[in-house]
Amino acid sequence: MRCSHNMRFVGLPGTPPTILEGLKNNCGWRALNYFSKTFPDGELYIRVSAEESPDVVWVVQSLYPNQNARIVELYLALEALQGLGFKVGPLLLLYVAYARQDRRFLAGEPVSVKALYSGLRGFGVKNVITVDVHSPERFGEASGLEVKNVLPHAFMLKRVGLKADVVLAPDKGALHRAVAFARELGVPYYYLEKYRDRVTGEVRIDTKGLDVANRDVVIVDDIISTGETLATVTSQLYKLGARSVIAVVTHALITQRAMEILERAGIKRLVTANTVAHPEPLPPWIEVVDISGLLCQLTE
Ligand code: R5P
Repeated sequence: MRCSHNMRFVGLPGTPPTILEGLKNNCGWRALNYFSKTFPDGELYIRVSAEESPDVVWVVQSLYPNQNARIVELYLALEALQGLGFKVGPLLLLYVAYARQDRRFLAGEPVSVKALYSGLRGFGVKNVITVDVHSPERFGEASGLEVKNVLPHAFMLKRVGLKADVVLAPDKGALHRAVAFARELGVPYYYLEKYRDRVTGEVRIDTKGLDVANRDVVIVDDIISTGETLATVTSQLYKLGARSVIAVVTHALITQRAMEILERAGIKRLVTANTVAHPEPLPPWIEVVDISGLLCQLTE
């Protein structure tokens, strides 16, 4: 591993300012400057500073909000770095857009992960470090990249502290997150069966006779997008007599609609990471944890 003080990185547009500051101040990583703009016709432009010529440059980015523009900028930056003769180290993708379409659920659909990320290899990228990507295995298979996936839930737990009687994964795919979290808390964990209508997007949850009466429940997941999954699970837990429902979710893409349905479902607290930029001000029940301290360990 490289010494932190030698570490050079480009924090591309989309990288939340709080994490950029954290990487610089907490980790001692040094950011390379660049200039970016959008042309009047909507095309994007980026120019990386040629003032320094580091041996290796890491590229850091969050591909939200505006996933489509962020992906174009990632490719433009990689080509620019290649043009400067810089060797690109691992890509640190704080949030991977399109990661959930990592297989063909319906005939005629694309494997979006393959379409969008396999081209990175053409720029010499071999390794990607992701933060709680939806499925590291499928992301790696579809993109052909070597994936190191960082799970931030335990780190977040240490930062905020919380108590619960039960940890729940909203579906089987999220079970590994719940297991790690439950171990930290020393409480049992369960997973629910989730069914999503692949055409309408409607979510149905089978609580499988779960007993949460008078219990404080924590739901652990990777992402809030529409908020449907979390809101549906929360409502059902309250119907089953849960005392309180808290969620710890790595990437909260907080749209107005998601906030409304989660508030309506009665979620008590949402703890999330600064892997994506959030609208401001946030309501008091949403807490954002700076996970730069966890990412520092990548170069320690
Ligand atoms: C699904 O498998 C994911 O882990 C999330 O639970 C899901 O994508 C959340 O999306 P939404 O907020 O739109 O229900």
